Order: sequence, then C-alpha cells, then structure tokens
Amino acid sequence: MIDIFEKRIIITALIVMGLFIFSLFYALGAKKADVTECLPYDKTYETARVEQLDKSTYQIFYVARMWTFEPAVAYIPVGSDVDLFVTSHDVVHGFDIYNKNVNLMAVPGGVSKTTIHFDQPGVYKVVCHEYCGTGHQNMQAEIIVNYPKKK
Ligand code: CUA
Repeated sequence: MIDIFEKRIIITALIVMGLFIFSLFYALGAKKADVTECLPYDKTYETARVEQLDKSTYQIFYVARMWTFEPAVAYIPVGSDVDLFVTSHDVVHGFDIYNKNVNLMAVPGGVSKTTIHFDQPGVYKVVCHEYCGTGHQNMQAEIIVNYPKKK
C-alpha cells in the first residue's frame, strides 16, 4: 500500500526527471549545443596542430601545459565548423572560449572533444578556467576568425 505522501514524492520526482530530459533535448536542438565527448586517449592527439578537412571544416588539436595552450594562435575562416580536441601534458586545465558556448576540461591521459561553428569574424579568447598553479591567470590562446581567403 503506497502512502499518499509517497505517491506525491514519486509524481514530483517523475515531473522533475521529465523536465530535465526535456531541457536536455531542448538545449541540443534549439540551442544547437554540442555535448562534449570524452575520447579514449590516443597518441595522435598529443601533437598540437590545426588541420583542414575540407573547405569549411577544420580540426584544432590543443595541448595544454603549464601555462600555455598550443597552438597559441589558430586562424580559421568565417563560416567554418571546427572540431576541438583538448588534452593536457601535465595537470588538469580548463578550456573556455569567451563568448562561445565552449567549456572543456584538459585532462592528462584524456581527450575532450566538441564542435563549434564560427559565423562571426573576430578574435576569440581562450582561457584556462581551472586553477593550475602560479601562471594560471596568464594561460590563454586566441582563435582568429577572419574572412575566407580569396582564391
Ligand atoms: Cu591552466 Cu589554469
């Protein structure tokens, strides 16, 4: 026999769960948020670099270490989709792109991945948001989004 209060708690819990699941799908669809993936560690991610897959798709492989991000500057044409891969060579660092919906952790032995779209030109600041030692506040990089090069 279920008590009336138990029943209320169960119904409330189901409503909260429903709202949570709805908000997840809402964020994925309407807000076009990309859920961060954690990839298995792979040596190919260790080398910091920018790669172009096709005309408007790029990949940036970031390596974080005290107290820099490599590549420190990345150039991306306007309108590109960019896969970001982030790993660390020492301690845990953060990876946040100012004014963009990107917030990753750079973890030694792990790779975080997300995809973003740059539809506005500008200089996008990347900062470390996880305290990582005395140089933490200077740990930053830039993604420079400029107009596509003319052929
Ligand atoms: Cu790296 Cu804080």
